[in-house]
Amino acid sequence: MNAIEPTNTHTLASEQETFAETLVTMLNHGATVAMISLGHRLGLFDILAELPPASSENIAKLAGLDERYVREWLAVMTTARIVIYNAVPGHYQLPEAHAACLTRKATPGNVAVNAQFVPLIARMEDALIDCFRHGGGLPYHVYPCFHQVMSEDSGQTVVAALHDHILPLVPDLLRRLDDGIDVLDAGCGAGRALLTLAECFPSSRFTGYDLCSAAFENTAREAAERGLTNLTFEARDLRDFHEPGHYDLITSFDAVHDQADPQALLAGIATALRPGGVYLMQDIAGSSFLQNNLDHPLGPLLYSISCAHCTPVSLYQGGPGLGTMWGEELATVMLKRAGFEDICAHRLEHDPFNVYFVARREDVGPTPEENRNTGL
Ligand SMILES: C[S@@+](CC[C@H](N)C(=O)[O-])C[C@H]1O[C@@H](n2cnc3c(N)ncnc32)[C@H](O)[C@@H]1O
Repeated sequence: MNAIEPTNTHTLASEQETFAETLVTMLNHGATVAMISLGHRLGLFDILAELPPASSENIAKLAGLDERYVREWLAVMTTARIVIYNAVPGHYQLPEAHAACLTRKATPGNVAVNAQFVPLIARMEDALIDCFRHGGGLPYHVYPCFHQVMSEDSGQTVVAALHDHILPLVPDLLRRLDDGIDVLDAGCGAGRALLTLAECFPSSRFTGYDLCSAAFENTAREAAERGLTNLTFEARDLRDFHEPGHYDLITSFDAVHDQADPQALLAGIATALRPGGVYLMQDIAGSSFLQNNLDHPLGPLLYSISCAHCTPVSLYQGGPGLGTMWGEELATVMLKRAGFEDICAHRLEHDPFNVYFVARREDVGPTPEENRNTGL
């Protein structure tokens, strides 16, 4: 016993030291991510990427920003090894390989877009403390810039990949969209996916529903300015969505787990499809079981977004608070409960953090055209 004690004490001390070092790294990374977000919003990475090694005065001038603040931000970026600093003559440079992960030109691989979620979460701390103490949730409008950040995020994962990667998951869909079908995006947010689709497929008709009209106002204006007549947006609480047989394709991008009544929405979607209709649902790729997500490369970030946003916005609506990580297993069960029988979950190479479900109701049967193709 006595012989073991010193070893145990030694092990504990070394474990504590290692953990303390990990925490210090986390502090540095957390602070850096907040500053990456700031740099993204101010366009600083985009300017740095276009410049040869430059002084803080030059960078600030080109960005139209205060030099003292820019210099301090550059110090963060330098000590974080994102920017290279040459003390004489006092020049800063963003290496090309780093620019390829941090600039608007790097879209859809701009990680600075995702960095914005961290300060967004941090800004909600006081409100969340209240939720932790008293329960309840938070409405969308108390989250500053949520829909804008979300739109940038899904702009990279969904909009940029729609035509080449996502739509081809559904056999024959591109042709049907070309011919002209009715499409709904449930929980469309800023509606950028619909805008892209409406421009690409003028013979099809597109509808976007979202709880928050503020989310899609700008896109609706843009669509009108571009003369698009095949796209409409409507502010709708989808808890009682009921439009039987209205659509040939229904999409939802990262929108089901936040809902007031996700199960009712899925059931509504199932009945809103016409014969041969298909539901394309993108959601976060993760397991419904915490123990399976231990090695998820974005586990802490996704659970943080869940804790600070997805869970409280659902609870505020009286929803079940499924959370961001409701997971593929539960999603499949809920799709089945909603009446979908033919469910296929796809992973796409460009987007390892999402899963794309293609779901159909068997009882509504194939389209007359599919019948012809299969010789029935
Ligand atoms: C994570 S965002 C995704 C938005 C968009 N699909 C995208 O990918 O950018 C979830 C969306 O669901 C909407 N939403 C949440 N609860 C809703 C409800 N009860 N009825 C309709 N929309 C709702 C939110 O307003 C939000 O725009």
